[in-house]
Amino acid sequence: MISQSIHSESTNKLSHLITIKQITPQLSERLCHRASEFKHFFSTQQHDQYNSILKDKIVNLLFFEPSTRTMCSFQSAVLRLGGHPLTLDIQSSSSVKGESLQDTLRVMEQYGDLTVMRHSKRGVHQEMSSYLTKPLVNAGDGDGEHPTQALLDLFTIKEEQDRVAKKIDFQVQTICLFGDLKYGRTVHSLLRLLYIYFRNQPLKIYLISPEGLRMPQYVIDECVQLGVNHTLVQTEMLTPEIMNELDVIYVTRLQKERFESEEQYLKLKSSFCLKKENLSASRNSHVPIIMHPLPRVDELDEAIDSDERAAYFRQMNNGMFMRMAILEMLLK
Ligand code: ASP
Ligand code: CP
Repeated sequence: MISQSIHSESTNKLSHLITIKQITPQLSERLCHRASEFKHFFSTQQHDQYNSILKDKIVNLLFFEPSTRTMCSFQSAVLRLGGHPLTLDIQSSSSVKGESLQDTLRVMEQYGDLTVMRHSKRGVHQEMSSYLTKPLVNAGDGDGEHPTQALLDLFTIKEEQDRVAKKIDFQVQTICLFGDLKYGRTVHSLLRLLYIYFRNQPLKIYLISPEGLRMPQYVIDECVQLGVNHTLVQTEMLTPEIMNELDVIYVTRLQKERFESEEQYLKLKSSFCLKKENLSASRNSHVPIIMHPLPRVDELDEAIDSDERAAYFRQMNNGMFMRMAILEMLLK
């Protein structure tokens, strides 16, 4: 359960962003709308519309696990909003001397106005929030969650739905989460958000993974408890019949770093990959919209990149705008 202290129901404004469970449909709508405005201002070079929103604000970036997109898009978002990022190089920090995480965070809180943290331990942000008085943002907690990614994924689904709807009569109805659903934190947050946001738009959701990498039952149970009229189908194979039904396919990487042994990883490594030839089973040339949180390794054929349905680079690009919206919400 999320404690009341991190979710202010009355204003629908958060003081931390720790789990996607804090997000309401209204808040996700607002964030997507704002991200879309930032994207428009950016593309039309109306920089004065946003470049002093975080004036005099300092945002701490603490990444205990590797990152390219989340770290750099947050950094870029802070700079574009007129704030200052303060990046702690973990390898040369005093955490190497044995300083506790809570002490490290308490120190950084003196220097900055908000902290973005990625860490390998599931649930650590919830634990740490009790030590902090300033906002904390979860940029990934082990095999737990990745809430800012889920919000940019939702933003992308909505944008792509609008893009396709300009060509054919279209509304997203069938979504497939494909790959490592056990350790993949992005899909843990995204599945929950599909239940929160599309509560009045029944979806058919395929969860396709090798047997050993199924979506954790606790995540499914939490979703089902929301009482939303979605249909969940768990299976191991992406068949041509399923492909023909899909509006969105969200591919994920095997989370090699979380496997218990190299042997287990190697055994499953070649068990799934989305190839260009799989797309020939789709029902037309507009679907499925293909998403991936990136980085990709072997599970998504580069031959797909030039296909209009490949939305993963547009999805990555949306990350910065969504993070601008999140920072503004937490700091203004
Ligand atoms: N970048 C995403 C994450 O940090 C997905 C991945 O690494 O596969 O969760
Ligand atoms: N999608 C994502 O979180 O990418 P990074 O791991 O590179 O931050």
